[in-house]
Amino acid sequence: MRILVTGGCGFIGSHFVKRLVGAGDKVVVLDKLTYSGNVDNLEGVEHAFVQGDIADPGVVAVAAEGCDAVVNFAAESHVDRSILGAGEFIRTDVLGTHVLLEWARQAEVRLVQVSTDEVYGDVADGASREEDPLRPSSPYSASKAGGDLQVLAYVRTYGLDGLITRGANTYGPFQYPEKLIPLFVTNALDGEALPVYGDGRQRREWLHVEDHCAAIELALREGETGGIYNAGGEERDNLEVTQRILELTGADPNLVRHVEDRPGHDRRYCLDSSRLEALGWRRTRSFEDGIVETVAWYRDRRDWWEPIKSGESRRYYEQQYAARLAG
Ligand code: DAU
Repeated sequence: MRILVTGGCGFIGSHFVKRLVGAGDKVVVLDKLTYSGNVDNLEGVEHAFVQGDIADPGVVAVAAEGCDAVVNFAAESHVDRSILGAGEFIRTDVLGTHVLLEWARQAEVRLVQVSTDEVYGDVADGASREEDPLRPSSPYSASKAGGDLQVLAYVRTYGLDGLITRGANTYGPFQYPEKLIPLFVTNALDGEALPVYGDGRQRREWLHVEDHCAAIELALREGETGGIYNAGGEERDNLEVTQRILELTGADPNLVRHVEDRPGHDRRYCLDSSRLEALGWRRTRSFEDGIVETVAWYRDRRDWWEPIKSGESRRYYEQQYAARLAG
């Protein structure tokens, strides 16, 4: 197949591109190269590349020409940034998804929307199933829910061959150091504070990026039109994750700082993945193996993350954390 991968220079997108190329597919990457998109993530990987915005129909038409499917990874994805300002989230996650849907409808090709467990909102007990109502808490998760709802409406109204995957917290090599694991690992390696929000007892499911990509590939190749597929991980609370990072980096436990909580912070996410498992999906990497491997990668690849942390990410870090850490 010839597949358009939007956001293919981002964290999960770039792993997915490598996976498709390894499987023999032709890949066109469309990426706006915002702060977190990085062409180096695809070094040595054969693909066609178009730089541009999924919210621009002209750009999408050029990039998508001749493609048999589109997998949409392009998104503003960081909850804390969405709290500082949601405009870009609406543009990319809502308007951008609309533009891709219009193209896929006219071209009559499959569209896979890569979404998130955050659309279900807080789950006190049990696990979210695909039919559960959407109760997003943050501007980010509301923008993703907006994308998901459009996909389902296009399936029903126009007969679009669309489907959705909803993944848990994903981690692994090449993740921009603003999310919990890469931020804390790189801070620990640099002897900087680890800013734990509130009591640190919020719970997330952790999913290795390769297992997440396997889930999306399975949905692309075997998912049914209109299907929604949860891909969950292993549940841990944030302090447990932090503790393991301290052990693996050998950093001083006094680096842990409990800081002002994230507004609207969801306590827990948990996914029921049985629908995807019925298609044959299984996680192949335990959290323990995955975190060991990931810490080792960040230890070895300072050349990848140091330029990021001294550039754009430094300004963001000051804005997000300076007052919290001073408080
Ligand atoms: O659940 C899937 C989602 O996982 C994805 O849809 C999002 O794109 C992705 O960013 C992630 O969202 P989270 O908000 O769960 O991830 P984050 O790494 O920002 O935070 C994980 C947990 O760690 C959360 O409870 C907040 C906490 N945290 C995070 C940061 C960055 C801290 O305590 N301190 C921090 O500095």
